[in-house]
Amino acid sequence: MAEFDVIVIGGGPGGYVCAIRCAQLGLKTACVEGRGALGGTCLNVGCIPSKALLHATHELHEMHENFDKMGLTNAKVKVDWAKMQSYKQDVIDGNTKGIEFLFKKNKVTYLQGWGSIPAAGQVKVGDEVHSAKNIVIATGSEAASLPGIEIDEQTVVTSTGALSLPKIPKSMVVIGAGVIGLELGSVYKRLGADVTVVEYLDAITPGMDAEVAKGLQKILTKQGLNFVLGAAVSGVEKSKSKNTVKYTLRKDDSAHEIEAEVVLVATGRKPFTGGLGLEALGVEMLPRGQVKTNDHWATSVPGLYAIGDAIVGPMLAHKAEDEGMAVAEVIAGKHGHVNYDVIPGVIYTTPEVASVGKTEEVLKQEGRAYRVGKFSFMGNGRAKAVFQADGFVKLLADATTDRILGCHIIGPGAGDLIHEVCVAMEFGASAQDLALTCHAHPTYSEAVREAALACGDGAIHA
Ligand code: NAI
Repeated sequence: MAEFDVIVIGGGPGGYVCAIRCAQLGLKTACVEGRGALGGTCLNVGCIPSKALLHATHELHEMHENFDKMGLTNAKVKVDWAKMQSYKQDVIDGNTKGIEFLFKKNKVTYLQGWGSIPAAGQVKVGDEVHSAKNIVIATGSEAASLPGIEIDEQTVVTSTGALSLPKIPKSMVVIGAGVIGLELGSVYKRLGADVTVVEYLDAITPGMDAEVAKGLQKILTKQGLNFVLGAAVSGVEKSKSKNTVKYTLRKDDSAHEIEAEVVLVATGRKPFTGGLGLEALGVEMLPRGQVKTNDHWATSVPGLYAIGDAIVGPMLAHKAEDEGMAVAEVIAGKHGHVNYDVIPGVIYTTPEVASVGKTEEVLKQEGRAYRVGKFSFMGNGRAKAVFQADGFVKLLADATTDRILGCHIIGPGAGDLIHEVCVAMEFGASAQDLALTCHAHPTYSEAVREAALACGDGAIHA
């Protein structure tokens, strides 16, 4: 008899959510985690700590930019970096302890240590081997660096080091204008560093709606971030006092360099599956290092499943969570499902950027007939009242059926606003369905409704 029905390897958002759902469905469940705290990259060195720093520095920015305009005069705040770091740590600790509590509440056994799979149906943690009818790999991802760059997590850092720098640097070069680069670049810019983002492509935020990407670059430039686009970084040279980033401009192959106290390498992440013993088990892998799974997250080895950053798809905590819940249902004999067409993405800059569904560029490529409804936050009273009128909502709907195909928002609270569109898309709603739904005034959400109105007979406040 197997000791457990399910052992989940990895206690990040994919793994811990999967373990809790398995237990809720009556399966005897254990979750293995080696970092000494639950929550994975997201809670310990990713989403959550970065949001703490983004929040604190956003408040600082508000004080500098807007307090005086509101009659809050003579506000002077000093940045205590050590205290900001301990605030960040408290936020992390509160969240990770919360998961331990949820494990106890749901009777999930927490196995502390790094897990491996010596044979099908077995998980080794430390010196102990546990047996399980089903094993779920939820081991996440790690930062992918570039050849010619040696990460020391001191002055040449990934997001992990960037969240815990010993002091605020005077200058920072960010390699990669993706999500991590822009979020953490914003943090240090607001703290006073001179920040330059060097990006290989000719636009920031690859894969994002081009109009939104352009709008975001304009706003971030206004906030003081410098951008070098179309630039392939080939290496970083370290000396005692500085780092020199070397890059080639793709348009003319000219070689350039730029110096900075700290270099943040934010050029993507790769699946973290080393040490699990997958090769010896004969688990089929994909060329880019992900575990190959079928529609039910089953690998090529019976009883072995994989979810989250370790498999294909966007490396997002909420995508992993959804897969964690769905695979738990599959294992319990139910019908777990993830709708990959409706997975929102958010960048937590100020203003936030959020998107779901298809971009205009993809619709064009597909040759689809679509309508665009656009509404600027300039026409939104609430946004204007709080100096956040930069940005817009762009809703894309099928030209014939009016069914919503995508939504792209840059503006205040975008990361929350996007969800009404997600729900609408899950229910197969039309733009008119959104337009006919009463939205409270004054809210940012009215901008979403106005964009939906703009898909039809026209927005009111445009
Ligand atoms: P990313 O894939 O979003 O962006 C990496 C950028 O680096 C790309 O724009 C790429 O063109 C550029 N690049 C690659 N090689 C380069 C070179 N040699 N020189 C110059 N530029 C180069 O990766 P990022 O920002 O590191 O994020 C990793 C993962 O973590 C992503 O999948 C992201 O979705 C996820 N994440 C999500 C967050 C969120 O949802 N808010 C927050 C943080 C991370």
